[in-house]
Amino acid sequence: MKQKTVFVCGECGYETPRWMGKCPQCGSWNTIVEEERVSLPRSAAVSRAVRLGDVTLQEQSRISTGIGELDRVLGGGLTSGMTVLMGGSPGIGKSTLLLQCAHHLCAKGTVLYASGEESRHQIRLRADRLGLGEGVLLLCENAVEAVLEEARSKKADFLIIDSIQTMFTEDAPSAPGSVTQIRSSAAKFTRFAKETGTPLFLVGHVTKEGALAGPKVLEHIVDTVLYFEGDRQEGLRLLRSEKNRFGSTNELGVFEMTDKGMAPVPDPSGLFLSGKKPAPGCAVGCIMEGSRPLLTEIQSLLCPSAYASPRRTALGMDVSRFNMLLAVLERRAGLKLSDKDGYLSTSGNLRLQDRGADLAAVLCLASASCDTPLPPMTAAIGEVGLTGDVRPVGQMAARLKECQRLGYTTLVVPQGVKPVPGLRLIPVNNVLEAVSLVLYPGEK
Ligand SMILES: Nc1ncnc2c1ncn2[C@@H]1O[C@H](COP(=O)(O)OP(=O)(O)OP(=O)(O)O)[C@@H](O)[C@H]1O
Ligand SMILES: [Mg+2]
Repeated sequence: MKQKTVFVCGECGYETPRWMGKCPQCGSWNTIVEEERVSLPRSAAVSRAVRLGDVTLQEQSRISTGIGELDRVLGGGLTSGMTVLMGGSPGIGKSTLLLQCAHHLCAKGTVLYASGEESRHQIRLRADRLGLGEGVLLLCENAVEAVLEEARSKKADFLIIDSIQTMFTEDAPSAPGSVTQIRSSAAKFTRFAKETGTPLFLVGHVTKEGALAGPKVLEHIVDTVLYFEGDRQEGLRLLRSEKNRFGSTNELGVFEMTDKGMAPVPDPSGLFLSGKKPAPGCAVGCIMEGSRPLLTEIQSLLCPSAYASPRRTALGMDVSRFNMLLAVLERRAGLKLSDKDGYLSTSGNLRLQDRGADLAAVLCLASASCDTPLPPMTAAIGEVGLTGDVRPVGQMAARLKECQRLGYTTLVVPQGVKPVPGLRLIPVNNVLEAVSLVLYPGEK
């Protein structure tokens, strides 16, 4: 007889025929739960394959959400039947942004906003505070079937579900919020979106570790996964696309949380700069976020360690990369750092994934080490290798242009960069040259 139940990991969706304490796939403890295996009825209609060239194309025009920064991460706007999962920690502004989006979409069609978390009253209060219009259809409901029925009867052109964790379908036996429920509910909503061509937003909560609560499989069901990140205190919110079937995944949307809601920041480049006079342990670099260059200020602090193995903390940079850059500086530029505690942070805790920020990080650490500020209006761009060599990175011209636009006059760059009128370039081969030319000019 075929087994009726299966054990599934709540984090990654790994399936096993028996219970285990630790998931062999993602390594999380106590996440494996028993689920009933649902066999889908086979449809009577026989599917036939067609030649790719014979597939008729429906017009795939993009529908703007009315929020430029959201359109940017979506890859230019919504498409028909597009399903979007928006994740983020509590209070980061998911409901706020989607309510604003709903308000703009009202001009293009009927928007149904289904909330399983808040009462009509609360949503109305938020809408009043944000000064939004009244055209959005509100539904405070947890039952998937009821939401879909309402979406059909009201002929919704857009559907927003806040949040998928609070939704509940009669077809799955377990409680709301459980893996089975989240998965079945999401599957029902996405099926509706695909069948009717309705763009769909699902809000998803994020656990303490930053992973999407519930099964990772949710990410496979939808077309696009957007994550909110940012410092709650600073009011800056970054929207990143982790997955996008209809566009690039390296675009970044920047918002500021204001009392009027999430305000898009279309020109964020200067936002991460303090504009203060250079201090020791401070350097400016330029990273690319998709097609957009962003200037970032990096700060570091080095102090004698009280321990045999010094503390190393990096906010906004991978700690192993930080340790690597410290080791390169020690071995290739002769700075004594191995007995120092090291701290590094980026302004706004902007994540430095782009290797182009390496040279700025290295100069920032060297400046902290010798307690000398970098010359004013100086920025650095380049990747640093284990041998201490400084290498070029992509889109150099766009980065230089952005630095110049924000008033930087001196740029430390790898060899071979084309000169730019009005910019003083300091080409360097390696970190030793960079440190000596920038921090000890005039000395041979
Ligand atoms: N009067 C106000 N002025 C400015 N900001 C406010 C005001 N009221 C609420 N906020 C901001 O709105 C945020 C809540 O946003 P929102 O409810 O959209 O978040 P969320 O991501 O949907 O949260 P949850 O996961 O709890 O649903 C708060 O963290 C707060 O910063
Ligand atoms: Mg919310």
